[in-house]
Amino acid sequence: MRVFVAGASGAIGTRLVPQLIDRGHEVIGTFRSPGNAGRVWALGAEPMVLDLLDASAVRRAVLETEPDAIVHQATALANLRDFKHFDRTFAQTNRLRTEGTDALLAAAREAGVRRFVAQSFASNRYERRGGPVKTEDDPLDPTPVPAMRETDAAMKYLDEAVTKAGGIALRYGGFYGAPNDGLLAPVRKRQFPIVGNGGGVFSFIHLDDAASATVVAVEHDTAGIFNIVDDEPAPVREWLPVLAGVLGAKPPRRLPRWLARLVAGEVATTMATESRGASNAKARRQLGWTPRYSSWREGFAAAYASTIPTDERKPHPATRSAHS
Ligand SMILES: NC(=O)c1ccc[n+]([C@@H]2O[C@H](COP(=O)([O-])OP(=O)(O)OC[C@H]3O[C@@H](n4cnc5c(N)ncnc54)[C@H](OP(=O)(O)O)[C@@H]3O)[C@@H](O)[C@H]2O)c1
Repeated sequence: MRVFVAGASGAIGTRLVPQLIDRGHEVIGTFRSPGNAGRVWALGAEPMVLDLLDASAVRRAVLETEPDAIVHQATALANLRDFKHFDRTFAQTNRLRTEGTDALLAAAREAGVRRFVAQSFASNRYERRGGPVKTEDDPLDPTPVPAMRETDAAMKYLDEAVTKAGGIALRYGGFYGAPNDGLLAPVRKRQFPIVGNGGGVFSFIHLDDAASATVVAVEHDTAGIFNIVDDEPAPVREWLPVLAGVLGAKPPRRLPRWLARLVAGEVATTMATESRGASNAKARRQLGWTPRYSSWREGFAAAYASTIPTDERKPHPATRSAHS
């Protein structure tokens, strides 16, 4: 197939393009910053600079390249800092998830592109009541924290627009597996505490596994929403000390909820204490996809152990084998 990957220079795009090519697909890889052309070309794709917020440019690009499938992986999440003003921080990404999705879907319709796969998000979106692990059929949070209402609405918009058009929305877990993952610096500096009882459940996914699920989705003639997460949703109090250990950092500090609210804001505090994880059973069953790293325990170790000097490496007391 000819696959049009919007956002080919990003964290997931750069893993996805080589996997698509390995499977025998041709890839048109788009990016926003002209300086990324060489990078995308080196991955094996036909590079194309494209602003997804320019609907007529999107239309031209899709009509000219005549793809069989479109994958929307464009976000604007590099160098995020301010989680207190969550919607302001995510504003550009929200536009990419609404206007960008609309532009790509309209172009796909006009060009007769039948397959459409888009990036959505699983973690921290499901209802913060009931069991710790949610399926795609479980309700989303009906009352998201006010500071993230627009971001939440943009993800919902994408999920609905894509599936209504017959495409697939992949609700990925929290990405990890790159040396510049956003979590690493704060955990190394002990700036990521366990808040309250650390009960917020997170679902993770290694970037290579997120990419492999996306390849499977592109090749699958179906529509719907799929959680793309590993097999072990876990509360912060479990995964955070393990990550700190793998990174050779000191164990995380503990912070009461009221103080976390003051320092980090309501969104981060709610995620850290109330969020629910996601189940990958549907993706395993219907797409036949299996993650290589079934747990963040083995994935963190594989991704980050080599980032600390050899003489500082030691197993963390909280680390256990994925199969024990
Ligand atoms: N599920 C998750 O946990 C999740 C999801 C997404 C991202 N993240 C994290 O967020 C961090 C940043 O993500 P990232 O490295 O992928 O960078 P990013 O800045 O979010 O960019 C992603 C892709 O979108 C493209 N893009 C940005 N604005 C665009 C626009 N207006 N029109 C078309 N394309 C546009 C980028 O092109 P340029 O590179 O040319 O700007 C890039 O190819 C990473 O650590 C990543 O792991 C996590």
